[in-house]
Amino acid sequence: MKILILGSGGREYSIARAILNEKEAHELFFMPGNGATNSLGTNLNIKDYNDLALYAKENGIELTIVGPEAPLVEGVVDIFKVHGLTIFGPSKEAAKLEGSKVYMKNFLAKYSIPTARYIETSSIEDAFKFADTLSAPIVVKADGLCGGKGVIIAQNHDEAKVAISEMLSGKSFGDAGLKVIVEEFLDGYELSMFAVCDGDDYILLPAAQDHKRLKDNDEGPNTGGMGAYAPTPLVDEALYQKVRDRIIRPTLDGMKKEGAPFEGVLFIGIMVVNGEPITLEFNVRFGDPECEILMPLMTSSVSDMFYKAATNRLGEIKVEFSNQYAVGVVMASANYPYSSSTPAEIIVDDVHHEAIQKYTHISYAGVSMVDGVLYADGGRVLVCVGIGDSIKEARDRAYMRCGQVHFAGKKLRTDIAYQAL
Ligand code: AMP
Ligand code: GLY
Repeated sequence: MKILILGSGGREYSIARAILNEKEAHELFFMPGNGATNSLGTNLNIKDYNDLALYAKENGIELTIVGPEAPLVEGVVDIFKVHGLTIFGPSKEAAKLEGSKVYMKNFLAKYSIPTARYIETSSIEDAFKFADTLSAPIVVKADGLCGGKGVIIAQNHDEAKVAISEMLSGKSFGDAGLKVIVEEFLDGYELSMFAVCDGDDYILLPAAQDHKRLKDNDEGPNTGGMGAYAPTPLVDEALYQKVRDRIIRPTLDGMKKEGAPFEGVLFIGIMVVNGEPITLEFNVRFGDPECEILMPLMTSSVSDMFYKAATNRLGEIKVEFSNQYAVGVVMASANYPYSSSTPAEIIVDDVHHEAIQKYTHISYAGVSMVDGVLYADGGRVLVCVGIGDSIKEARDRAYMRCGQVHFAGKKLRTDIAYQAL
């Protein structure tokens, strides 16, 4: 199959890698891709979605997979469908589950899906009044997309009020903050779950845990994610069943009733409080770096799963997973997550150790290729993934691989998967 992948991160690299490992041969295209994806396929530079759809038609692309949220929220799926193309991802309307936290919270409330108690408002008085009914810490969220920075966990009421005022005045996040959510703080442990959906049916992937803070022991600023592992032993069959019955099924049924059937990846941020799963948020795409550790755990065809999901035929297939574990450790540039970094050459040692060769790999993200040399280009540069029969084995292997990757200013956490060990 000829497959086009939208995005430029480690997430998209890992999807491509999984597809190229299938028995059937595939030809891959990326828009825009990164400095390493052009050795897996062809990088394109066609920014306009109509032009890209025309390119896809003219070049016989049979499936398009969308990685990040921005093109989804901008409606790329609707445009491709108008052109009669097969594309995996939610419509612009369904992508509001991620694009607007107000839409998401009101949807959860309407369909009685468990979530933190909240108010959504653009009135400063109402927001203050509701905050006064909560005990600290208090959670304040901007409505729109803020690049993962729109959530403030205020340690006391004064801090909450400052956050509310700054968001509603447009000072913190511009228009994205002109409506806010104020909600109760949930105290528990966090999980990421991913359901691949076709509007009616879904496949639930093994539960993962992300590591959002920059530094060991969950210290430092929030990032897009510094590492992840799956499956997590913190989830048993009973918890999976609760997530299916209380969150995923009512969400798919609800979105159909709303006239926006959900096709694509439903990424559920869950807080488990006293054994009960509560919905923190939805995203409408794979997590990054969660995707990098879930793709290598799939033993059945990844491209077939996306194709069947995009054509409303998920019910026809059985998706299979390995019974091993995967751990992914992110290596980021010196100034991440604050600012860009000077490009630095990446050197990866030759691998001689058999276990490292067989059970580890690298998913490349923030890299560029200049004259055949790979450079770390800032942000999250790559993810070293280890596979093993236990979480410890997978983690040891991932860190062995990290030891063989060098670039100036590299930084990484040393405690990925600590929750499970
Ligand atoms: P969100 O973008 O809504 O997932 O929020 C980002 C992060 O803030 C989450 O991954 C949680 O760690 C934290 N968070 C969000 N909402 C709450 C809440 N109600 N209680 C506790 N932590 C929260
Ligand atoms: N790793 C979390 C995210 O992709 O949003």
